[in-house]
Amino acid sequence: MSAATTTTITEQLSNPERETVKIVNDAPIDEQIEELIRNNNQINITRTRHKKIALQPGIDKSGLAILPESTRKRLEDDDIDIAKGYPEVPERNKIPIFVDQAHAIRDYDVPFVDRGKGADPEKKALFGAAKEVINLTKNVGTEIVGLQLEDLTNQQKDELALLIAERVVVFFRDQKLSPTAQHKLGDYYGNIEVHAQTPQVPGLPGTTVIWNDYQVSQGMALNFSNSNLGNWDSTKYLSVGNQGWHTDLVHERQPTGYTHLHLDAIPEVGGDTIWSSGYGAYDKLSDEFKKFLDGKEAVYVSAHQYLDRDDPFGGPKRIERVHPLVRTHPATGWKFLYVNRGMTKRILGVSPVESDLILNYLFDVYEKNADLQVRFKWTNTKQGYGTSAIWDNRVSQHRNVWDHEGAEPRHGTRVTSLAEKPFFDPESKSQRESLGLYLHQWE
Ligand SMILES: [Fe+2]
Repeated sequence: MSAATTTTITEQLSNPERETVKIVNDAPIDEQIEELIRNNNQINITRTRHKKIALQPGIDKSGLAILPESTRKRLEDDDIDIAKGYPEVPERNKIPIFVDQAHAIRDYDVPFVDRGKGADPEKKALFGAAKEVINLTKNVGTEIVGLQLEDLTNQQKDELALLIAERVVVFFRDQKLSPTAQHKLGDYYGNIEVHAQTPQVPGLPGTTVIWNDYQVSQGMALNFSNSNLGNWDSTKYLSVGNQGWHTDLVHERQPTGYTHLHLDAIPEVGGDTIWSSGYGAYDKLSDEFKKFLDGKEAVYVSAHQYLDRDDPFGGPKRIERVHPLVRTHPATGWKFLYVNRGMTKRILGVSPVESDLILNYLFDVYEKNADLQVRFKWTNTKQGYGTSAIWDNRVSQHRNVWDHEGAEPRHGTRVTSLAEKPFFDPESKSQRESLGLYLHQWE
């Protein structure tokens, strides 16, 4: 510190004017902070890890100016009221300030039955009605042709759940699917996650708007240089957008299961999404290493940050939750690796250095094996129609490829059904073990 600065501070401290600062009331400091934040529109209450982005709570008129025509058609066909604006960000008084408030959201057990459990393993009702069923790679990703998601019977939905659980992600093109119908399908698959601060379709909470163009219009500094970087810890390095490998919402008490993204505005070229399999990532490990990891637990954190009530000036904090590092899937019965670079922070029972070493290796295995991945090109058909991807967030990581750099609009709605409280069954088998596929025995 320079002498001049020291003098200045000393002068300030001895300035009698300071005494004009009064304690305004006797309320505890955390309550005063909460009141200050809630009532001051200049404080960016929705601020996440993106430094410059400032979403305004409530329905945003400015979004209408960049709303793609095909999206507008889809919303209007569904009688979604966008007269006041689009999208809708939760109201200021509903957004959590403190980490304990955020942690308390859905911090209770919700009964969950996996619709895939007990479904016909041959999936005769679903496959029999489809025009074509195309496996896009050997291990991950299947496309179903000739069916409308909105028309599926419950039996077909159950078989679809099992198919997603087995194949990690399933695609449907040329879908006439309203946000309301998408929400209804998500509701069939589990308790729908309603996010505390991300943009939603107006009047349809739980239908999250996936629209980087809007975030950029609100100040998100997404560009060619900072998107799609490899080995990128999105929470540590304050990346922007959804281009790094991740699994959605791992900090939930009952994290995400079947997750449905429907894109209704799609670039002609670019904007693909890539998925990687957690079953495959587990099966890439040696038997000895699998044995070491089985039964271990780890700390999982939220993407969003909040204040610590007991240490409000100690910097932003994330929600933390402990889950098994290796999980068992309730429908397939297969074991899978449950990690992702940004949100799996620490393995319990080993030293922090050992944890970092092991986790970094596991992230690499999950992110870097081409035979565990599928890259999907979304396609546009006619206005009001779109393409759907439904994936199992338990057994996968995904990333968006932002190579179109916003030159053409890309917009979608996501409905996320929460699944079971994660568990590990020591009797369960891996995918390849269960399917009788080759597993190398290292000497
Ligand atoms: Fe995501």
